Amino acid sequence: MTEAVLLVGGRGTRLRPLTVNTPKPMVPAAGVPFLAHQLARLKAAGVEHVVLATSYLAEVFEPYFGNGAALGLRLTYVTEREPLGTGGAIRSAATALTSGPADPVLVLNGDILTGLDTADLVRRHEAAGAAVTLHLTRVEDPRAFGLVPTDASGRVLAFTEKPTSPEEIVTDQINAGCYVFRRDVIDAIPAGRPVSVERETFPGLLADGAHLLGVVDRTYWLDLGRPDSFVQASADLVRGVVTSPAVPGPPGEALVLPGAQVADGAKLGGGTVVGAGAVVDADAVVEGSILLDGARVEAGAWVGHSLVGAGARVGARTVLDGAVVGDGAVVGADNELRNGVRVWCDTRLPDASVRFSADC
Ligand code: GDD
Ligand code: MG
Repeated sequence: MTEAVLLVGGRGTRLRPLTVNTPKPMVPAAGVPFLAHQLARLKAAGVEHVVLATSYLAEVFEPYFGNGAALGLRLTYVTEREPLGTGGAIRSAATALTSGPADPVLVLNGDILTGLDTADLVRRHEAAGAAVTLHLTRVEDPRAFGLVPTDASGRVLAFTEKPTSPEEIVTDQINAGCYVFRRDVIDAIPAGRPVSVERETFPGLLADGAHLLGVVDRTYWLDLGRPDSFVQASADLVRGVVTSPAVPGPPGEALVLPGAQVADGAKLGGGTVVGAGAVVDADAVVEGSILLDGARVEAGAWVGHSLVGAGARVGARTVLDGAVVGDGAVVGADNELRNGVRVWCDTRLPDASVRFSADC
C-alpha cells in the first residue's frame, strides 16, 4: 500500500495574519483544518500511512490529529529543528517510511486542494517506470509556480522554479505540488542540510538523465497560499464544487457549525462557513466567506469573499470585500475594507475610520 509524505512545515507568510497563530495547514477551510481534507482524500485513495513533515509551529499538529486512528490512517510526525526546505523535509520524512527501495511514495505540498486521482498517478508512475512522476496543471499566469515543459510522451524537459525573466516562460504547465517518488530517489537526497526539491533535486535528476514523467491533469486545482485562494477553496468545498469526505455537512450555500448563531433576516450564501460560537446579527449578509470560531458580524454588515479570524468582530454596517481580519481584531462600525486588505490580529479600528469610496 502506497505511503505518503505531506509537506506541512512552511511559514505561510503569504497568508499572514492567518498564519500568525496557526500554521497554514491548520487554518480551517470548510469547518475543519485544511489538512483534514488532504488526509481524508488520501485515505479515500487507499493510503494507510502518512508522514507529516512539520517545522513551523510543529507542536499543534499531533494534539489535533493524534496517531490518525480517528481518520482510519496511521500518522507519523517528523519535525525539522531548522526548516530544511521541501527536499530536506522529504528526505528527513523518509526516515519514517517502511516502503522498499523501488516502491512508489506519494509526496504532496500541504496547501493544495485538488480533485486529482492520486491512485491513478501512482499507477501511471509504475507503468512508466519513472524515477519521479509529477502532477502538472495549466494556469494563465505561471510566474508564481514551477514551470515544467514536457515532450509528447510526457517526459519532463526542464524544471524552472518561479521564472524571473520572460524568456524563461516557455510553457503554461506548472508543478501542481503532488509527486510520486521511487523510494530510492528520496534516499539519494542529501540529509541534514537545506534542499529545495524544485531548485536542486529535480534539475539535478534531469541533468543526470533520470526519467521524470509529467502528467497533465486539468481537474480542480488550487494552491491555498494566498488569502483569496484560501477563501475560494473553502467556499468550493462547502458548495461541493470539489469534494472532501472531511466537510462536516452536506453540500450547500452555507455551513453553520454547532454553537453558531445566525439571526433571522441575516443572509448566508456562496459557500460561507460560520464557525462554532460565531454570531451573525440581523440583516447582515455573508457571502463566500469564512467566519472562524467565535467571530461576530454585527447588524447590517456586508461580508464577501473575506475571512474573519477567531474571536474577531465586524461592526454594524461595515463592508468587507476580499479582506482578512486577523484573530481577535475589532473592525468598528461603518468601515469599508476591500481589495485584499489585511487587518492584523488584535487590532482595533475605530468606527468610520477606513473607507474606499467617498459616498458618505
Ligand atoms: N517541512 C517543511 N520544511 N515543509 C516546508 C518547508 C520546510 O522547510 N518549506 C516549505 N514547506 C512546505 C509548505 O508548507 C508547503 O506545503 C509546501 O512545502 C510548498 O511550499 P510553498 O511555500 O507553499 O511553495 P509555493 O507554493 O511557493 O511553490 C510550490 O508549490 C507550487 C504549487 O502550488 C512549488 O512546489 C512550485 O513548484 C509549485 O508550482
Ligand atoms: Mg504553496
